[in-house]
Order: sequence, then C-alpha cells, then structure tokens
Amino acid sequence: MSFQGKKNNEKQEKIVEMFDDIAPTYDKANRVMSMGIDKSWRRKACMLSYEFLAQDSINRIVDVACGTGDMMDFWRESAEKSGIALGEIVGVDPSNGMVDVARKKYPKFNYHISKATEIPLDDASSDILSITYGIRNVVEREEALKEFNRVLKKDGLVVILEFMKNENPSFIAKLMNFYTNKILPKVGGFISKNLEAYEYLPNSIESFSTVENMQTELESAGFEMLYTKSFSMDISTLLIARKK
Ligand SMILES: C[S@@+](CC[C@H](N)C(=O)[O-])C[C@H]1O[C@@H](n2cnc3c(N)ncnc32)[C@H](O)[C@@H]1O
Repeated sequence: MSFQGKKNNEKQEKIVEMFDDIAPTYDKANRVMSMGIDKSWRRKACMLSYEFLAQDSINRIVDVACGTGDMMDFWRESAEKSGIALGEIVGVDPSNGMVDVARKKYPKFNYHISKATEIPLDDASSDILSITYGIRNVVEREEALKEFNRVLKKDGLVVILEFMKNENPSFIAKLMNFYTNKILPKVGGFISKNLEAYEYLPNSIESFSTVENMQTELESAGFEMLYTKSFSMDISTLLIARKK
C-alpha cells in the first residue's frame, strides 16, 4: 500500500470510529440540529428519482452510508405513495454502531457493513443508489463513484444529498455558515458528549467539493447529470445522475 493509501485508510478509519461513537445519540442530535427540515429534501429526492426512473416496479435500491437508516424508510414510504412495487432496500455502511441502530428501527431492510468503495453487490444489480449526507465522509471519492457505477444497471440513478462547499455565499448563506460553524457543533457536541465529532461537520463541508466539481466527477465516473438543485438558502444540494 502506498503512503497516500495508508494515510487515507487511517483518515477513513478515524471517521468511521467517530460515527460509531456518536451512533446512540445521532438521531436525537440530528432532530434538534436540522429541526426536521431535511425531511422535505429527502422526500423530494425520492419522488423526483421515481419520476426520472418511470418504472412501476423496482427490484433494488441501495442506500450507501445508510447510517441509522432513515433515508431507506423515505424510499419505502415514497414508493408506497407512488404505487411503485419496491423489491429490496439495502443499506451499506462501515459503522457497526450506526447500522445497529438502523437494524433495530428498520428490521425489514437488508444491511452490509461495508465502505462505499467496496459494495458487496453484483455488477449492474441495482436500480437506484443513494448517498445522503455521506459522500463527504468518503475519503476515496473517485473510487466510490466508480463503484456506484458498477453496481447500477444501465440507466440506473445515483442520488446524492449533501452539504456542498459554497465559494460565493450570499449574505443569508454567510449567516447560515455562522450557524453551522459556531452554533451547531456546540449543540451536537452537548447532545453526543463528543464535541470533536460535531466540529468535524463544518470542517468537512469547508474541505468538500463544490457542486460544479461534483458534477464533473460524476460525469468522469460514467454518469449523465439529470438534475441539480440547492435547497433552503443553499444549505443542502440534491444531485441526480443516470448511468450511461
Ligand atoms: C452524517 S451520516 C449520514 C447517515 C444517513 N445517510 C443520513 O442521511 O442520515 C454519515 C454516514 O457515512 C458513513 N460513512 C463514513 N465513511 C464511509 C464510507 N467510506 N463509505 C460509506 N459510508 C461511510 C458513516 O458511518 C455515517 O453513517
């Protein structure tokens, strides 16, 4: 393994350990910090993806970095509302702690303890692959995007929700940045008793990709962009792309 590979491995392991540590309080902290605003973004992501896919029945949806499982349940609920027959929902995440919580909440879904770069599913076996507030934590992003392309069927969709780096923030966006950089870490740190983990949130957004860069990376990995939109004063961005 190269020096860079070793460094990446150590960084990735530290991130996963941090999620193991905050797993028991993750949902509570998330509820307080997001004030439920993420629910509408998640529903929108599911409904739009179902419209783009335009199928009455879907065999498999994979949710990578599934964490405590809520996005999987949004896929289920939105399919039910849209009258879509949905086969299997699979969650993939390297954190045992996060997946333990998900398994208790949603025992009907299937799970794999695994990284985004090593998804234990066959080539061209999935219709939709989502990653919500997860891609920022994937150190080897280029490999992960290739892996997403591998497991998706032709015309399958990759759906990303994320806090992206904004290089030209508006006045309101600057105020929001103050809130995420200075206030949120204290709230999350108080609930989880792990301040370091919640200080990681603003730092990881700052060092993350811009929307334009993410689009270029998706195209290089073999996807065609279908949809990009930022919500709620550009706090969160939804990207949907199709495997060519
Ligand atoms: C902020 S949580 C998001 C959880 C969930 N998707 C949601 O929307 O609430 C980030 C998740 O990414 C996972 N993660 C970290 N590194 C990862 C990797 N290399 N591959 C896949 N998931 C990873 C963490 O274990 C954690 O569960």
